[in-house]
Amino acid sequence: MARGSLPSAMRIRLIGAGNIGSSLAREAEDLGLAIEVADRVDKRAAALAEEVDGRVVAAEDPIDDVDLAVEAANQDVVAGPMLAALEAGTDALVMTTGAFADPNLLDAAREAMETTGARCHVPSGGICGLDGVKALALEPGADVTLTTRKPPSSLGPVPDDAEGEVFQGTAKQAVQEFPKNVNVAASLVLAGLVPEVRIVADPSLDRNTHEVHVSSPNVEIRTEVASKPSPDNAATSHIAVLSAQARLRRIVEPLEVGT
Ligand SMILES: NC(=O)c1ccc[n+]([C@@H]2O[C@H](COP(=O)([O-])OP(=O)(O)OC[C@H]3O[C@@H](n4cnc5c(N)ncnc54)[C@H](O)[C@@H]3O)[C@@H](O)[C@H]2O)c1
Repeated sequence: MARGSLPSAMRIRLIGAGNIGSSLAREAEDLGLAIEVADRVDKRAAALAEEVDGRVVAAEDPIDDVDLAVEAANQDVVAGPMLAALEAGTDALVMTTGAFADPNLLDAAREAMETTGARCHVPSGGICGLDGVKALALEPGADVTLTTRKPPSSLGPVPDDAEGEVFQGTAKQAVQEFPKNVNVAASLVLAGLVPEVRIVADPSLDRNTHEVHVSSPNVEIRTEVASKPSPDNAATSHIAVLSAQARLRRIVEPLEVGT
């Protein structure tokens, strides 16, 4: 969307009509936007489009006639339709930030944005404090650790009775081994600091917990978010859904708050 264009004229293409996508569509309807919906499950796209008075499209249809392309699906959609949108000069909002752990994809997205002037929005998702991370990333000597605690049922590739630390390593390894759970690690990298990642399975938890600890020679920041899982997708924290909605609202509204 060109700066200064009327928000009420804004049209969005939403790819992924699941847990986050459905909430985003309802937010878009509330904001008065024109909505296109795509999902690989046809009836899911159709039901959501009907609910929000939108239009069903195919995920692979060219994205050059909308103001904002939104991904709430998976890494393949970032590498496919979202990159194509940026290459066509269309702004994008990406939830599956783990896709950008692939340096070739990140380079291609940056190159497309430099060429076309398109912008890519990355909501904070499941964590808080990315404003502080971006600030401290400017200071030499800053580092960050991310500790994620979830019930094993929300973690994916671990047994249901797993308990204790199931992963410790780099953000890149974490994205490969827990692709549905560590978008937050990839988001920290995009914000400018590469985290050391710990993932802990805790069957007693009823909330997904992300603790971010950033320290630099002059400043120390700790944030901890304990969010109930989404009812429709236990791997997705409820706050990630709200964060996506808040970002969409921020794109539309002229007043921007926060770093
Ligand atoms: N950035 C963050 O902090 C953060 C937090 C939570 C979730 N996420 C990510 O956001 C994404 C969406 O999460 P969700 O909870 O809504 O998941 P979900 O499983 O509820 O919904 C995903 C939807 O995308 C659809 N889909 C998948 N591949 C598709 C394709 N190629 N074309 C069209 N549709 C396709 C699925 O059919 C499904 O309806 C996930 O990748 C998740 O990992 C990011």
